[in-house]
Amino acid sequence: MKKVILITGGAGFIGSHVVRRFVNKYPDYLIVNADKLTYAGNLENLSDVDKKDNYFFEKIDIVDKQSVLNLFRKYNFDGVIHLAAESHVDRSITGPDEFVYTNIVGTVNLLSAALESWKNNFEGKLFYHISTDEVFGSLGKEGFFTETTSYDPKSPYSASKASSDHLVRAFNHTFGIPALISNCSNNYGPNQFPEKLIPLAINNIKNNKPIPVYGKGENIRDWLYVEDHASAIDTIFHRGKSGETYNIGGNNEWKNIDLIKLLCSIMDNRLNRPDGESEKLITYVKDRPGHDLRYAIDSSKLQNEFGWSPIPDFAEGLGKTVDWYLTNTIWLESILSGDYSKYYDLMYSGR
Ligand code: NAD
Ligand code: TYD
Repeated sequence: MKKVILITGGAGFIGSHVVRRFVNKYPDYLIVNADKLTYAGNLENLSDVDKKDNYFFEKIDIVDKQSVLNLFRKYNFDGVIHLAAESHVDRSITGPDEFVYTNIVGTVNLLSAALESWKNNFEGKLFYHISTDEVFGSLGKEGFFTETTSYDPKSPYSASKASSDHLVRAFNHTFGIPALISNCSNNYGPNQFPEKLIPLAINNIKNNKPIPVYGKGENIRDWLYVEDHASAIDTIFHRGKSGETYNIGGNNEWKNIDLIKLLCSIMDNRLNRPDGESEKLITYVKDRPGHDLRYAIDSSKLQNEFGWSPIPDFAEGLGKTVDWYLTNTIWLESILSGDYSKYYDLMYSGR
């Protein structure tokens, strides 16, 4: 069946994997990638699919309501998969405003445009909002986030994502717009901007620079390979029910320090360094303010209803990720030669 689908934030980390999957798997769908191309958006991420007939790119700032309305009038979308966001917690601490504009105002602009476009007939339409497990706050040593866990966001990033989730549910409840949400745990894999823990550590290990570990390295995250997130999004977009929420997780909890040690051993292997060499770069630095202790997702609803499950084990997924960063040196160098060094100095000089 033909569909016209808007994917926002498709030039970013997760968005590019979702765009690639949909463009290749669904040749009958027309995929429109709308992205502002902030520091985190990179069209190089899509160089293998951008010549395909069923792919279109639109440079759009979702905070600009008129541009969003025009986009919906130009294409008559059947579905929206909304990933565009400011996504890095540390940046939300030094500058929360952009998170409010893009994550909250941007989402309401998309919802309003979808409502205007679809209000006479909701049949076959869907607004799918991609969110994070961080909206649930922080877990202690026990327990898991389920779909009914109360929201308790703790950072400006997670507060802005929580607001956007509430707005999606409010538009679904008040106006009847078909909408659903998924909340996913930490992703890793190719194309992730090297401000996030895993690519930042890979780059620093490669260059024999200190690996900054916040606090004591005891915070725990549940890591999911990015292509598994894309496959979950595909499943939920096609089989999920409007009004529902789905949790997506890797069932793969790691203390930051244990993850870094595993990464160091993979890097020693790939770079032909003696065992234990890269671990010497581990450097404990000042903790992130308000640092959430633990995230862990219960994704049994998604697994039981749709049979989805994550594929690679962590060492395998991390190995593939390391190989990608060591091979794609031009991609990495072009990021490092931009504003990245200013960002790095600002974030890490005081730690
Ligand atoms: P990212 O930062 O790599 O990419 C975000 C993309 O959004 C970029 O291409 C950027 O140019 C675009 N964008 C930013 N502001 C925009 C604006 N005003 N208008 C249009 N485009 C804009 O982010 P990511 O890690 O790929 O995350 C994608 C989505 O998934 C986000 O909504 C995030 O909250 C969610 N999520 C991320 C993770 C994770 O571990 N990375 C986990 C769960 C959920
Ligand atoms: P991050 O990749 O920023 O994801 P999130 O904060 O959304 O979970 O960080 C993952 C974990 O790693 C988090 O507990 C913070 C920690 N961390 C470090 O210890 N050092 C770093 O340089 C970074 C970026 C993160």
